[in-house]
Amino acid sequence: MNTEFFDLRDPQQNPAAVQRVGALLRAGEVVAIPTETVYGLAANAYDAAAVEKIFAAKGRPQDNPLIVHIAYVQELFDLAAVVPTAALRLAERFWPGPLTIILPKKDCIPDAVSGGLDTVAVRMPSHKAASAVIRAAGVPLAAPSANISGFPSPTEMRHVADDMDGRIAAVCDGGSCEFGVESTVLTLATPVPRLLRPGAVTKEQLESVLGEVLVDNAVLHPLTAGQTAASPGMKYRHYAPKAEITVVRGDAKAFAAVMNEHPDAFALCFEEDKHLYKNCVTFGSESDPFSQTHRLFDALRELDEQGAETVFARDPSPEGVGLAVCNRLYRAAGFRFINRRGTIVGITGTTGAGKSTLTKLFADRGFFPVDADKIAREITEKGSPVLQELADTFGAEILLPDGTLNRKELAARAFADSEQTKKLNDITHPAILQKIRLLANEKSSDGVHVVMDVPLLFECGMDVLCDYTVHITADHDTRLKRLRKRDGLSDEAIEKRMAAQHTEEYFTARSTFVVVNNDASDLNEQFEEILHSISQ
Ligand code: TXA
Ligand code: MG
Repeated sequence: MNTEFFDLRDPQQNPAAVQRVGALLRAGEVVAIPTETVYGLAANAYDAAAVEKIFAAKGRPQDNPLIVHIAYVQELFDLAAVVPTAALRLAERFWPGPLTIILPKKDCIPDAVSGGLDTVAVRMPSHKAASAVIRAAGVPLAAPSANISGFPSPTEMRHVADDMDGRIAAVCDGGSCEFGVESTVLTLATPVPRLLRPGAVTKEQLESVLGEVLVDNAVLHPLTAGQTAASPGMKYRHYAPKAEITVVRGDAKAFAAVMNEHPDAFALCFEEDKHLYKNCVTFGSESDPFSQTHRLFDALRELDEQGAETVFARDPSPEGVGLAVCNRLYRAAGFRFINRRGTIVGITGTTGAGKSTLTKLFADRGFFPVDADKIAREITEKGSPVLQELADTFGAEILLPDGTLNRKELAARAFADSEQTKKLNDITHPAILQKIRLLANEKSSDGVHVVMDVPLLFECGMDVLCDYTVHITADHDTRLKRLRKRDGLSDEAIEKRMAAQHTEEYFTARSTFVVVNNDASDLNEQFEEILHSISQ
């Protein structure tokens, strides 16, 4: 097939090309189009025969559904059987942009698009050429990334040409893709919104609109035998170059040591370290996750061009947009890791469940304990800026006459209702988290195992720093008794504090391990089991 090429870097300058591409799409052809995430392989979403051509061009498994791209929010109502207000709030905040929303589908969506599921994934891209082409076509466009299935997604026109020249009707040049990783995929077709694929719209941003969002286990972990993928795309080998990549868990020094042991290997490292390695491809700056998303796929293709066979990669920070970088890199590496740092275990759970008792068990076995409450006390020492901000917010009564914090008074006010608790968190969390992050990274880089006792581990996104998370829980009455004894509070005050926390299900859904602590000998036994399973 003779593939036509169009320059749509500035679509307004080339209306004839836009119209021609629209006509090709209406005629049932497949066209590669630029988006702000990666290039897409587009066809009329209502035309099953046209959509079949996408699968043929990519060599994509038939059960892997496609995202439908629209140019107006209104089109969502043509595609989705139910449009909850949550979807409209997300659209208002993030569309046009790199967010895909999954909703129950209407019958007009062919099975070829939905992969036989009863849902449809919809997104409204912000790239000017993408919206111009969708409008010119006059129909929503189904489009996966424009790579051969299993290869890294294309983020430059030449990547698309490499993979698709001769296989499709046309390719549109839209320049280098702004974000460089595919959109965030979120399903609203589950009781709690669930992040299926991380992207440039972060979990934290989604939570600011939706409240709770779950991160699907497949985001950072390989599927185990018997597990089904919430998103069919998660089960396939992905983003992989021909080279064999291994991610080095550890800091720059640990990475340098691994490279030393493998003089012929390629380094997939950050810009800052490129002078250190003879064979080296970079993927952005260590401190700038957006530069990493922008560069990663191009770097993976570059490794192949340079003939790399064995590659060691730096492990990016998983926080914020970094989660998307980790997700793609780990998949490209087939979840192959070398561990050159200490293991990090995070412990969380509701008040009175026994977090500190369990932390102590780990500490007794050589884990370095990081205690969020202790750090919270340190950052609210007399005269600290955090303490001042708390007094401004909750009243000078939270200070004792000598200028130190009256913790009981603060607790009484801050746990009064969820709005007050949020105020407390917004002031203290950033400072606490920064300290926890530094301490855990420093110790683990030295090869020391770390146990973190962090009541708000998941709420603050600290769980992504952990190799394992443990939720410790106990019966309601057991916790009540413990708190009476420990804090000397009235039952009413304790109940209030408990009610302000998340439910058991919230913790359980997010943790690697769950420990039930009604009894000390049971606790010991469960602890030994966890220790055994993480040291495998
Ligand atoms: O940024 C992007 O999203 C790019 C550009 C071209 O828009 N597109 C893209 O499409 O990455 P694709 O097909 O490479 O990835 C779509 C992902 C796959 O993992 C697929 O399994 C998942 O979204 N997906 C699509 N529809 C779904 C559905 N109804 N339920 C669950 N997962 C779905
Ligand atoms: Mg893809």
